[in-house]
Amino acid sequence: MPPIVQMDGLAFSYPTREIFKNVTLDITQGQVVGIMGSSGCGKSTLLRLIGGQLRASRGVCRVMGEDVSRIGNDALYRLRRRIGMQFQQNGLFTDLSVFDNIAFPIREKTNLSESVIEDLVLLKLNAVGLRGASRLMPSELSGGMIRRVALARAIALDPELVIYDEPFAGLDPISCNVVANLIRRLNDALGVTSIVVSYDAQESLKIVDYVYFIADGVIAAQGKTADIKVSSDPFVRQFIHGQAHGPVHFHYPSDPYAKDLSVEAAVS
Ligand SMILES: Nc1ncnc2c1ncn2[C@@H]1O[C@H](COP(=O)(O)OP(=O)(O)OP(=O)(O)O)[C@@H](O)[C@H]1O
Ligand SMILES: [Mg+2]
Repeated sequence: MPPIVQMDGLAFSYPTREIFKNVTLDITQGQVVGIMGSSGCGKSTLLRLIGGQLRASRGVCRVMGEDVSRIGNDALYRLRRRIGMQFQQNGLFTDLSVFDNIAFPIREKTNLSESVIEDLVLLKLNAVGLRGASRLMPSELSGGMIRRVALARAIALDPELVIYDEPFAGLDPISCNVVANLIRRLNDALGVTSIVVSYDAQESLKIVDYVYFIADGVIAAQGKTADIKVSSDPFVRQFIHGQAHGPVHFHYPSDPYAKDLSVEAAVS
């Protein structure tokens, strides 16, 4: 089985900043794969490259056999329909009920009748344990419930690949566990492939099969979860044990501090 996502020598820069120098990775079908790295290393950017919202400047980004940096808009649209995405900010419509939030992509992308849509939405809500909450508005939900609604919406169109951007952020430990277990269970029950982007190594390592660590524009480390947990690689150890000191830098790249200070001094 070919990998569902294949990046080879991928490079990408925003106009003001280089993000990826050379990224090579494979996402194996059927697995839950973790992408980890500190804040700002480019995790969400990597997902936008997979979804074709951004295009690589060099190298290949192949998703389900299509080179997303080069395909036309129609093919990209068809490809995106096969990808479910849970965005970092959840992205629920605040003026639509839970039901209508999940029905939204189905109504937008299919011609199914309302009664079929109702069955589908309730099926998805049942899968995340929220069938009873279908008529509530997002403002009436807890953070953990909102995340689960976003999960249900990500799987609304029966995608082959589901992408989660920071699914654990801002959740209490119990909700974190619920969401983590849901991601794993949905992956296996639906027979899909899942990519989980997170800086929460402890939570991710409970459910992923394989992990890639990104730092300084490249894959800094990778491995099966069991191997990563016992790795002696200083980068991996710093990351999974949350140590402040190590190869990962805390500061956003900047000019030397003294230079900024002297500019301030010159202005005042
Ligand atoms: N549209 C943009 N234009 C220019 N720079 C951007 C843009 N989007 C993101 N960046 C920068 O690119 C870097 C990577 O951003 P990205 O959102 O991919 O990081 P991340 O790893 O997802 O971070 P976090 O863990 O905080 O979500 C950041 O330094 C960010 O400031
Ligand atoms: Mg991000």
